[in-house]
Amino acid sequence: MDQSDLIKVTINGRDFQVAKGARLIDVCRENSFNIPSFCYYADLALQASCRMCLVRIEKMPKLQTSCTITCTDGMIVTTQSEEIEKAQRSMLEFLLANHPLDCPVCDRGGECELQELTFDWGNLEERFVEHKNARPEKYLSPMIANDPQRCILCKRCTRVCDEWMGEEAIEAGNRGANTVIGTFGGWLNCSQCGNCIEVCPTGTLLDGTYRHQARPWELTQTVSTCNYCSDGCQMSLGSRGGELMRVVARDRYVNGHNGEFLCVKGRFGHPFVNHEERIRTPLIRYKEGGRLIPATWDEAIRFTAENLDRVVREHGNNALAVVGSPRLTNESLYCLRKFATEVVQTENYAVSDTFSLRPFFENLGGQLATHHDIRFAKTIVLIGGEPEELQPLTGKQIRQAVRNGGAKLIIINSVPIRLREQAAKFVHIKPGTEDAAVLALADTGSNSLASRKMGIETGDIDGVRKLVSEAQGDLIFMFGSELSGAAQSIVAQFPHLFAGDGRRVLLHPLPLFNNSVGAHDMMGGGAKQATDLIARDDKSIRAMIVAGDPRLTSVGGDDIAPQLPEFIVLFEHFLSGISPYARVVFPAASYAEVDGTFTNNDGFVQRVRKAIEPVHQSIPDWMIVARLAKELGVDFGFERSASAVFREIGERVPAYAGLRYPLLKDESNPVQVKHAIAAQRDLANELETVRHGVEELSDEGEKILHTPPVGHELFKLGTLTEKVPQIRLLAAGNPTPETFAISPLYQITIDENLKREAAIA
Ligand code: SF4
Ligand code: SF4
Ligand code: SF4
Ligand code: FES
Repeated sequence: MDQSDLIKVTINGRDFQVAKGARLIDVCRENSFNIPSFCYYADLALQASCRMCLVRIEKMPKLQTSCTITCTDGMIVTTQSEEIEKAQRSMLEFLLANHPLDCPVCDRGGECELQELTFDWGNLEERFVEHKNARPEKYLSPMIANDPQRCILCKRCTRVCDEWMGEEAIEAGNRGANTVIGTFGGWLNCSQCGNCIEVCPTGTLLDGTYRHQARPWELTQTVSTCNYCSDGCQMSLGSRGGELMRVVARDRYVNGHNGEFLCVKGRFGHPFVNHEERIRTPLIRYKEGGRLIPATWDEAIRFTAENLDRVVREHGNNALAVVGSPRLTNESLYCLRKFATEVVQTENYAVSDTFSLRPFFENLGGQLATHHDIRFAKTIVLIGGEPEELQPLTGKQIRQAVRNGGAKLIIINSVPIRLREQAAKFVHIKPGTEDAAVLALADTGSNSLASRKMGIETGDIDGVRKLVSEAQGDLIFMFGSELSGAAQSIVAQFPHLFAGDGRRVLLHPLPLFNNSVGAHDMMGGGAKQATDLIARDDKSIRAMIVAGDPRLTSVGGDDIAPQLPEFIVLFEHFLSGISPYARVVFPAASYAEVDGTFTNNDGFVQRVRKAIEPVHQSIPDWMIVARLAKELGVDFGFERSASAVFREIGERVPAYAGLRYPLLKDESNPVQVKHAIAAQRDLANELETVRHGVEELSDEGEKILHTPPVGHELFKLGTLTEKVPQIRLLAAGNPTPETFAISPLYQITIDENLKREAAIA
C-alpha cells in the first residue's frame, strides 16, 4: 500500500498506521482489541442497532458505535473504560429483558454469541421481573425452526437473505416490543440456504433437521469441502459416535472462501452419509441375470480381477474401460487413470461429465477468477449458466459484487434468470444460441449473422462490447455448460482478446460437479468422452469399471442398458442407476469418510477430511482400485494413505507440481493449481467451427419468457439428496404443514410416485 494511503490512529494509547477509509471496529479487532457486537457483520450493509460496539473517540461528545465510524487521521480512541463497560452491560440487560434464558434446552447453547457476550459483558443478574413476551416455537420450513422469543433484532438474517441470496424471504414484522422476524404467510418459500440460521447470533433461527439431536460440544468438528457443486465451499462436519450430525460454515470452526455461506445442498444434503440404504458389503452377481449376493472383500476383489484379466486376454486391453465420476476425489480419479494406463494399458478411460472442460483448459489464456475476485470485480460477463441454482456461492458473489461493490453485470442468457434483476445489461437470446454470442463477441464480422440467430438487435452485442471495452478493474468472463467445445476454446482466449490497460481479464467456468476441474486435471488429455464409452454400440468394450454411477452425472439415460458391456464393476454408496446391470458392486466410502482433495472452479485444491470412519464395509474408491491393481500384479505402494497418492499427484501432474497435504492445511489461504496459460492463438479454426454451427441454427424458435422458480434445479432429487426427507419435501413443492409447531416431516407424507426430473448436478 502506498504510504499516502495510510493514516495514524491511536487506540488505547498505542499508535497504528491504518488504511484510509478503514472501519474502526475492524481496525480494533485486527489489532486484538476486543469489541463486542451483534448487528455488525463484515460485508453486509450496516445496521447499527445493537449498540454493543461502543467506544470513546476524543473530541466526540458521546460514546460512538465503532461499526459506523470510518477512521480519520489522528483519531484517538478508547475501547475499554468503566463508562463503556457500563453502557455495554446496560445494552445486554435490555436485550435479555425479553429473552427466555433457556440456554440448557437451546440448540445454540454453547456456541451462542448472546450467551458468550452475556458471560463476558453482562451483569449476570436479572433485574426485570415482569412477564416475558412469550411466543411459541414453530417451523418456518422443513429446514428452518424458529423460536421468536430468543430474537435480539440484529437483522443479520434479513440482510443476509436480501444481500447474499437476493430473496427477501424474511423480514421484521410488527412494531416496538412486538417486533418479530417472520415470513409472508408464516411459511418460507425460498432457496432454503439456511444462511439466516448460520449468521443468527442467537438460537432464534435453528437447523430444523438437527434440532434437539446433539449439543455443539458433543460434536467433533472436521473442516472439509462440500461434495455437491463446483464452488467448493469449506464447511465443518459435526460428527458424534460415527454419525454425521450436521454441517455448518460457522466461522468459529471454518475460515474458508465462502465465509459462513452454504447452500441448501451443502448444509442440509448430508444425511445420505449414514443412511440405512448404504451398501454394506461387496456384492457379486455370479451369473448374468442372477442376484447380487453379499461377498467378502477378498472374494469380490478376486472375482473381479479374474474376470477383468479374462476380458483383457480374450479381447485385448481396450476391451476394458474405466469411467470415474467428477464427484470423486483427485486421489481416486488419479488412481483410476493409473489403473487404466499402467495396469491395463487401455486407451478407454473417461470422466462421466457431460460438460468437458478440456477445450477450455487447452486454450486457457488467463487466470481463473477466484470467488474473492468475483466479489470485487468491476465487470462480470455471464454467458449461459445459472449460478444461483447450480453454483450458488458464485451466484452470491455476483450479487454482492453488484449490490455492495457497484460491479456492472452483463448477462447473455436464453432464460430470464433471477440474476438479471442485478444486471446492467441483459441480452435475452433464443435457446441453444449461446455459441452465437461467443462468435459475435470474438468476431465483429459475424455480429449480424449471430444476432439474427439469437433473435436480438446487432446493437445489443455492440452494447456488450462497449461495456467490456470501457471496463476498468477486474473483468470476469463466466460461462455455463451450454457452450460447445469450440466456443469454450474461444472464451478461454478472451483474456488476450479483451486485454486492456487498467484491468485484469479473468475466467470463471461454471462446471457442474464438485470435482469437475480436478477430474479434468487427473484424467489428463488422453481421456475419452464418457458418453462414447458408455453408449458405444459396437460391443468392443467388454468390461467396465464405473466409479460413481454415471447416471448420477447425467451421462446416459434409461436407454443405455443394451449398449452396456457384459461385465460392469460399480463403486457406489447406494444400489441405484446402473447397479441392476453390475456384476460386482463395491461399497465406496462417501466424502465424509475419506481423506483427499477436490479442485473447485477457482482452481483451488481443497482438502477433504475424514470426519467419520467409513460406514459398514466401505472403503475409499482409490483404495478399491489399488486392491484390484495389486490382485492383477501391480502394487501402487500407497499403503492405505491418501497423502501418498497425493504426493505422487504432486510429482506427476504438472499443474499440481510440488503440492503436499501440509501445504493445503489452511483453508483461509487456499492454493490455486497452476494450469498452464496458453499464449494468444490463431482461433480461425474454432471460429469457423462455431460459425458453421451458428449458420446451421434455425431462424425460427421462441424465446423463453418465464423465469424459473427458486429451487428449480437446487431441489431436484439426485441419488444423494433423495435420501434427505426434508429435501424430498422441497422437491414435492415445499407443502405447508397443518401446523407450523410440529415438524413438517411428521405431517406430510411424500408421494412416492411423484414424477421428478433428475438433478443435473
Ligand atoms: S433460508 Fe436463505 S433464502 Fe431462506 S430465508 Fe433464510 S437466508 Fe433467506
Ligand atoms: S432471528 Fe437471529 S439474526 Fe435475525 S434478527 Fe433475530 S437474532 Fe438477529
Ligand atoms: S454452493 Fe456448492 S459448494 Fe457451496 S454449499 Fe452449495 S453445493 Fe456446496
Ligand atoms: S455492532 Fe455496532 S451497533 Fe451493533
